[in-house]
Amino acid sequence: METSTPVLIGVAGGSGSGKTTIVKKIQELAPHVATEVFHLDHYYRDLAHLDPESRDHVNFDHPDALEMDLIAKHIAALANGESINRPTYEFASHTRSSKVVELQPKDVILVDGIFALYSPDVRKHLTCGIFVDVGDDVRFIRRLKRDVSERGRSIDGVIKQYLATVKPMHDQFVAPTKKLADIVVYWDNYNERTIELISKMIQQNT
Ligand SMILES: Nc1ncnc2c1ncn2[C@@H]1O[C@H](COP(=O)(O)OP(=O)(O)OP(=O)(O)O)[C@@H](O)[C@H]1O
Ligand SMILES: [Mg+2]
Repeated sequence: METSTPVLIGVAGGSGSGKTTIVKKIQELAPHVATEVFHLDHYYRDLAHLDPESRDHVNFDHPDALEMDLIAKHIAALANGESINRPTYEFASHTRSSKVVELQPKDVILVDGIFALYSPDVRKHLTCGIFVDVGDDVRFIRRLKRDVSERGRSIDGVIKQYLATVKPMHDQFVAPTKKLADIVVYWDNYNERTIELISKMIQQNT
């Protein structure tokens, strides 16, 4: 059943915690609920005006790297039952592509991103905020494995970025949002039980 005002669920947590994995599991466990994923990563600022060398020096782990005003505007529209034209971000070039994707206000919108609970203008539209809590060491290992095997990065490069920006920005801006969550999911292991409970809650509220 489609409703005009969707249930918005924020899924926050540090990089490599398992947000995207959890979002997919929630969708699988609630197959009869019409869901849409709102991925914050598409809202990184367009750096087309910078030369490629300077783009590599931007701190992508700081909340200002995202266009939070536009995120809040689009979340407000979706919460109001309106569709939006989502931008598409090209990670390789750090630019916004010309591709625009129309997102419909489905029954449930899953807001996936490290800063999903960061902005009060976004939070006020969320029915429920989830924080995926995983120890720094486990998150670092997951990120290292992913970036080396899937993104062609060197071990040294991943370590350098982790120490320079990922860890300090996480401690300063991401970790404190745990206290703003309604549900904390411990995801060092696959904690299926919690995800099943969340899926049941979603099915009862749609
Ligand atoms: N409970 C788990 N145990 C082991 N590995 C996991 C678990 N959950 C996720 N992973 C793996 O860890 C990696 C990171 O997971 P995922 O991409 O879901 O994290 P994320 O929070 O979305 O990260 P990012 O913020 O960088 O997008 C993936 O390779 C995923 O398969
Ligand atoms: Mg992810």
